[in-house]
Parts: sequence; C-alpha cells; structure tokens
Amino acid sequence: MRLTKSIAALSLLFTSSLAELLPRSYDTHDFFALHLDDSLKPEHVAEALGAHHEGQIGSLPGHHKFSLPHGQASTVESLLNELKVRRKRGSDPALYDKREDGLDGILWSQKLALKDRLHKRVPIELDSRTGQSPGPAPEAVDRQKLIASNLAIKDPEFQKQWHLFNTEQVGNDLNVTGVWLEGITGKGVVTAIVDDGLDMYSNDLKDNYFAEGSWDFNENYQEPKPLLFDDKHGTRCAGEVAAVRNGVCGVGMAYDGKVAGIRILSKPIDDADEAASINYGFQQNHIYSCSWGPRDDGQTMEAPGILVKRAMVNGIVNGRDGKGSIYVFAAGNGAAHDDNCNFDGYTNSIYSVTVGALDRFGNHPSYSEACSAQLVVAYSSGGGDAIHTTDVGTETCTGAHGGTSAAGPLAAGAIALALSVRPDLTWRDVQYLLLETSIPVHAEGDEVQLTPIGKEFSHQYGYGKVDTYSFVQKAKEWELVKPQAWYTSPWLRVQQEIPQGEQGLASYFEVTSDMLKEANFDKLEHVTVTMNVEHTRRGDLSVELRGPQGIVSHLSTARRGDNAPTGYEDWTFMSVAHWGESGEGVWTVIVKDTAVNEHHGVFTDWRLNLWGASADAASQQPHPLPDEHDDDHNIEDAVYATVSIKPHTKTTPAPTATDHAERPVNQKPTNTEAKPTATPEVPTPIEDEETAPTAEPTETASSSFLPSFLPTFGATPHTQVWIYASIVLILIFCIALGVYFYVQRRNRLRNNPHDDYEFEIIDDEDDAQVPLAGRRGRRRRGGELYNAFAEESDEELLSENDDDDEVPFRDHLREKGDSEI
Ligand SMILES: *[C@@H]1O[C@H](CO)[C@@H](O)[C@H](O)[C@H]1NC(C)=O
Repeated sequence: MRLTKSIAALSLLFTSSLAELLPRSYDTHDFFALHLDDSLKPEHVAEALGAHHEGQIGSLPGHHKFSLPHGQASTVESLLNELKVRRKRGSDPALYDKREDGLDGILWSQKLALKDRLHKRVPIELDSRTGQSPGPAPEAVDRQKLIASNLAIKDPEFQKQWHLFNTEQVGNDLNVTGVWLEGITGKGVVTAIVDDGLDMYSNDLKDNYFAEGSWDFNENYQEPKPLLFDDKHGTRCAGEVAAVRNGVCGVGMAYDGKVAGIRILSKPIDDADEAASINYGFQQNHIYSCSWGPRDDGQTMEAPGILVKRAMVNGIVNGRDGKGSIYVFAAGNGAAHDDNCNFDGYTNSIYSVTVGALDRFGNHPSYSEACSAQLVVAYSSGGGDAIHTTDVGTETCTGAHGGTSAAGPLAAGAIALALSVRPDLTWRDVQYLLLETSIPVHAEGDEVQLTPIGKEFSHQYGYGKVDTYSFVQKAKEWELVKPQAWYTSPWLRVQQEIPQGEQGLASYFEVTSDMLKEANFDKLEHVTVTMNVEHTRRGDLSVELRGPQGIVSHLSTARRGDNAPTGYEDWTFMSVAHWGESGEGVWTVIVKDTAVNEHHGVFTDWRLNLWGASADAASQQPHPLPDEHDDDHNIEDAVYATVSIKPHTKTTPAPTATDHAERPVNQKPTNTEAKPTATPEVPTPIEDEETAPTAEPTETASSSFLPSFLPTFGATPHTQVWIYASIVLILIFCIALGVYFYVQRRNRLRNNPHDDYEFEIIDDEDDAQVPLAGRRGRRRRGGELYNAFAEESDEELLSENDDDDEVPFRDHLREKGDSEI
C-alpha cells in the first residue's frame, strides 16, 4: 500500500519535473512580461496565474518573465487585460475591492512575441566608386613603419588598416596612433558587441575576450559563438574595437581593451530578451556597440518597445555605476532609399551616440543616412575600399567590412580609449566630448550650419569625423557636466490641414526663462519633438524644427518609397543641432506635404522636450523609466498653438560664393535680405484663445453689397458701411501699434549678445540632378530668428528650405556593388 503510494508520488514528481525539464520555447509556451510592485513576489504571481516564473528581465527592477503552456494562456491573458482596464480607470477602493490574490500589484503587462525586426547594418547597395589614389605617400609610409616599430605592432594587416593610419589619403583616418604612443590603449575598458556573436577562439580576439560580460540570447547560452554561416558581423566589429596586437591580422582601436559578445541577431527574439541584452553585465561592460536596427529600406519607421526603452534608460541611470552605459548605434545604410536615421527609434534616442560613415577619401558613401540626431561620423567602406579587420576563424582576416555597421564600432573604440583615461565620464560627457572634438567634414553639396556655440553641424556628418587624439586629450581635462534636466511643453493642438507642395504649416511655442527655471534647466543638449500627423501617404511629409537662435533641424524628410497610409503617431524625432543653446525663445515646427497629389493630411498636435544640463545639480533627480502612457493625451486637453500658413511664392535667393573656405563667415548681413513688405507678424506665444483653426466663413444670405463671405451682421447696407469702416480704422490702429512694438523689440534684440554671431546656410545642390538650381547661400543673423520672422513675409519663412528637403538628404549616386560586403 505504502509502496504504491510512494510510487505514485514519485511518478507524479517525475512527470512534473519532466514538464519542467522540457525546454520552454515559443513552440510550446506563451510568454508574458510583467512589472510588479515591490510588495508582490514573482513566486506568488506564478502561483496565482498557474505560470512558471522564468526570472527577472535582465537588470530591470521589478520586471519578470512568466510562461504558460499553449492553451493555458488565454485565461491569464484575459485576466491581465481585466487588470489593465482596472488600472486605467484608477483603482479607487470605493469602486473596487482589493483583490484577494494580490494581483493588483501588477503594474504593467505585455504578452511577448518573437520578432525578427533587427537587421545588421551591412550595406546592400555598395558604393563601388573607386577614387583616384595617388598611391602611398613615402613619408607617411615611413611614419607608419616607425609607429609600428615603436609600439611593437607586428600585425601583418596593420598597413592595410587605413582607418587607423592612412598612408594614401593622408589625414583621412581616426588619428589614433598618437594616443597609443602615449600609452593609452584601452586598458580596463570593456566594449560589448551586441550582434550575431563573436569568435572568442580567434587568435586575434581570444586574449581580449571578456567572458563574464558575454551571453548568447539566441541560444540562451553563456558563450556567444557564431553558429550560422553568416554570423561574421559581430566578430568583424569586435576586431575593429579590440583586435589584439599580436601578429595576427590587424589591431583594434583599443587593442588592450576587452570585448564581450552579446548575441541577439541570429534568431528572432522577444522584447524581454532584447531588453536584457542591452543591460547585460552593465556594471562590467562599459560600452554597447550596436550595428543594427530596423530595416533601412526607406519605408520603415520603428522604435524599440517599451521594455527596451526602459532598459535603455535603466542602463543610462544605473549602468556603469550610475555613470551610464554608453550606447553606440550605426546610423543606417538606407540613404539610397531616402532613409533617414530619425525614422529609427534607436538612432534617434537621446541615449545613443549615432555614428554615420565616411569613406577613405573623406567622402560620403552613398549608403550612409543623414538626420538631425546624428552626432558624428567615422570611417567605413566606399571609395573602392572597406575596413580591414578580424574575421571568424582561427587566424582569418577580412578586408571587406563595411556600411555604417563598421563606422559605429570605430567610434566605440575611440570612446573606449577615452574611458580608459577618464572612467568617470558620464554618458552625456562622452557626447559632449565627441561634439567638441570631432572635425567638421566639408563636402560638396552638404548644408552646414554654424551653431551658437561655434560648432558646425550638418545632417549628413553630424558634428564631423571622430578625431581620437583630440577626443582623448580633451577627455583628460574635461570637467564633468551637471546631471540631466528636462523641460516638457504641454501638448500643442494644431488640427489643421497641411497645404500641399511648396508650402508648410508652421506652429510656434515659446519657452520662457521662467519655464526653464522651474525645470532646473541650465543649458540645452538634445531636443525631441513628439508629434501626431494624420496623412494618407507618410513618405510625402517632411518636418522642420527651427530653434530660437536660428538653427534649423530637418526632423524628417520625404521618402519616395514610403507609402504607409499612417502619418506619424506619437512619433518622437530628435535633434542634436541645437546643442549649447539656452533653449529659451520661440520654437517653430513646420510640417510640409511635399507632394501635390491625392494624398492629404492634418497636422494634429505636437510636444516639445528640451533635454540638457541642470542648473542646480544637488536637487536634480534622474529621469524616471519611460512609461507606455507617457504620450497619452486627449486632444481636447491640448493647448491651442499659434499656427501660421501662407501660400508659397518663389523667391530668388541672392547669389553667394560657396567656396568651402568661406562657409561660415562672421560678417554683417548684406542688404540683399528681404525688407519687410507686410505688417510685421511676430508669432505670439500660445494662448488659450489663440485659435487659428476656428476661423470659419459664416454663411449668410447676401442681401448686401458685400462679398458673400463677409458677415452682414443682419444690418442694413448703411449700417454695414459704418461697421466695416470702424473695423478698418481699428485694424489700422492695431497695425501701427504692431509696428511700434516691432521696432522696440528689434532695438532690444540689436543689443542682444547673440547678435555678435551670425551663420550661413550653404546649400550646394547637385547640378546634375537639379538643373535649375545653382549654388547659393543664405545668410541669417543667428540671434534674431524670432525677429527674422518679422522681417520676412511668411512666404519666405516657410519656403526657405523647400529645396533643401529634396536635395541634401538624398544620395544621387546610386551604384550597384560588384561584390558582397
Ligand atoms: C592628430 O593627432 C596629432 C597627434 O598625434 C595631433 O597633433 C593633431 O592635432 C591631431 N589632429 C589632426 C587633425 O591631425
């Protein structure tokens, strides 16, 4: 009797543990991510739901993953949905009894799914232009030999690693050797390559491999070894950062630094694993190098899910002992498809360093995307060559690593060198230093703006190419910035049809010094604009942000292949172009519907976020983790924004010399600037009663001499004359008053210190593509944009960069590659 009982018990134990032993995969199970409050134990939740607790999601506090066999998940799903509804209504104890099972403590839930949405940034269309090389310069070759012998570099591929020391296009390299000669080689810094694995048995990597920081999320295994035939990407990236100086292949930027491998790209993964991957080992891994993202096909507009967003902020706030993990992202290879890195929620995050590419001639490779969120560029394939680095295999090298995929890790390598001398730099200090020390790229057809802090910003090259030497030198003496502060505007309601063609719909918001003071805000770094636009063809839209100091960010550009009938839904664009401004003044968003066709749309609303350094460090709290409801709002609650719209008239720009040597000049504006022709129209700060959209023609029976669209007030024609005459008189008085205030304001601005500088937008256009457009330049006094609105008619304001939308962000040279990289 007892025996049978214990046999039964044993077999029960056996079957249940067998179920436990069977691998829980998406083939057999459903998975859920839950955020639990502090009082709720995951074991308790597992029991209450009849689910298996898979563990905490990476390093995210309170976030856990649970699984259930297929078929058992639907009841749990409906329970979780019920809890969600309850949370939405607010858990008023008067309305709801506290649940006995304690599940009120579930703060958030999501059913997980495998996604195959992240792609390596290997260019599909290669830039096969081969530039004319003069051949190696003898002095440069000698210098390279001397450096190699001083540093005992015997790696056979070192001479081919032009990105480290270029003997042909002298100066077109990352200028790293001077740093090595000072003994700075990346000691003590770990760069995690988040990719398709890393060949830790390669003789060129194994001595620098950091196992503790490595994990394979695709196989759920500790060793992220490349397994698929094309799992070569991560190994190549790793070699760029930290290939060992040992006589095998070449050397990495930080050849005494360490590399970890985090494998996520070889199979579809869910958001929980992705979130865990970018926080993996985040006290020991310092830099996360990410050469991937949503598709670069010019049709995709995708951001990471809320779990991944939270993980990123978690990394920023808690990683590297509170200094913040450094996320480096490749800008994207979709330039030939009109793609723009602001359509990618990883590259346009304020928390990532976005890196575009430059070829060995210092030219723009046709794949490399532009955007206002791009911080810097680094070298990569194009101009007939590519990056020479380590490959999968014991002693295998490659000379064919390319795309922005190869540019990102080189910037990561430079950051590793800087962190090895200054481990205390925060994630924002790293961005400051890159911005401060990168060298502007002067290229044909690129639009460059001189910013108020004296930096040159271009959407194609960001603040320029990474100069490792000056970056590391500046890092040595860098004073750490104060903690991050932010200012968020209310939602601004526009709700107006966007005119088609060369027009735009502009909406204004004024940030006052009081608002910034309240936000403990000192100086601007990143700007984000979250917006809603309804449109039947997304690719027709473009968006410009004009800052108070005259800098223009092209937040979005038209994409010829983007047919999505969606417009923008709570999409957040980012710009680094306004870095260093005070943030105070009028910010203008101009939405354009660039194509005259059957597709129309409405600019619904927007919200401005300024991110920067705090005024008082002691009282500044870190930013909370993002919430899925952060952008929730009722349009009815949004404040009416000032809106302006005027038909476009083509203006002839003043011809200007566009020699690069005289790009940004400090000279007074010429008199060719349009003089005000109409009543000055200074945009007024938003006010609740400011309601442009409500102007509706009143229908009246026309018993009147007046045009039918004018109201008759139900009066006799005689009285009507009196009414309208009075209106005209009042108008004249208002205009006179307006002119008076305008002159006053103008005089005030004249005495503004910002007047000392001005910048010029050069907009060289590709003659072959735009036959009518010559080269031309525009000047605008930087400190006076607010006033500049007044000085110009709206036609000019709105049309000024019409052509720019079309040209600088598109790559005209589209060539088919003849080899696969
Ligand atoms: C490159 O590094 C050297 C030191 O090796 C430094 O003198 C120089 O200013 C740096 N930048 C450029 C553009 O050469």
